[in-house]
Amino acid sequence: MIPNPIMSQNEYAYPDRDERLTSRLIQNYNETRWNLEEAYVLKKVKDTVLGENEKLSVSLDVGTGLGRLIPFLLSISRKVIALDADLWRLEEAMKAFNSNSSVFFLWTRSSRLDPIPPGSVDFINYSHVAQHVSPHEFLETLGEFQRVLKMNGWVLFLTTHSEGKEWFLVSSEDGAEEIGKEEYEKLTLNPVPGKLPVRKFNVDSLEKLLKECGFEIEWKFYYHVKPEFAPRVELRNTTGAIGDPTELLESSQKDVEHIMKNLKSINSNEMEARRKALDIAMLLRKG
Ligand SMILES: C[S@@+](CC[C@H](N)C(=O)[O-])C[C@H]1O[C@@H](n2cnc3c(N)ncnc32)[C@H](O)[C@@H]1O
Repeated sequence: MIPNPIMSQNEYAYPDRDERLTSRLIQNYNETRWNLEEAYVLKKVKDTVLGENEKLSVSLDVGTGLGRLIPFLLSISRKVIALDADLWRLEEAMKAFNSNSSVFFLWTRSSRLDPIPPGSVDFINYSHVAQHVSPHEFLETLGEFQRVLKMNGWVLFLTTHSEGKEWFLVSSEDGAEEIGKEEYEKLTLNPVPGKLPVRKFNVDSLEKLLKECGFEIEWKFYYHVKPEFAPRVELRNTTGAIGDPTELLESSQKDVEHIMKNLKSINSNEMEARRKALDIAMLLRKG
């Protein structure tokens, strides 16, 4: 692992280190369905970026956390560089993947990708990180993505959105509470254990910003359908699959097909999708 010297001066601790708050949220939405919907998005990404081609050369997993999506990145690229600002979480990911000679680890913030040379990366996975960082750091991060990506390189940007206006929350053991932008910024800059700041993006302004920063939006897709808009199905457990999460879709269960059909149908109307789904996936291209 390559340490970044600035990190030792300003050590970051993710407020939901053990994933307790996140797991609680996922349970409300039915974990199996939650995983399947994400697997569908990842499959769409794989089909777009690989096409008929062989694997990409280098992928970056920005805010890898416990390394949950490293197997997916290994399925599309020969080398993966996984980084995180929280050393404890990065070490957990290292324990799981250290024996894999195609995975490299870097302790740094997303806005400080200095050890990575310009124009050297094919694909960046930025999964559920933007909603926990300060607006300033988010902007700097987009600048770093432009610098390290090859021309026409990709970013998979997964985050949470609101139906209309941007809003900010703090998630804790007692549930989620709306907060102001200033408090959100304060919590991102000075993390408090057990108080997870969450930014819900306004998709229109987010898209505008991404375009201003030089990204083209190849496609977008809303996922993690709210329970009241999801078909009632009795799924046998499909979460046991280890490795590439897109393998979850290989289940022959009729109900899996049913979930995917509902997801596609919700996405046929953007306003409806915004109302019915919690998260958004955007596949970006460096223009
Ligand atoms: C919700 S978790 C997502 C983890 C992983 N990407 C996934 O989808 O499972 C957010 C992760 O982003 C990391 N993180 C937060 N701010 C960061 C920053 N500025 N730079 C790099 N990582 C950051 C946190 O430490 C945490 O591991």
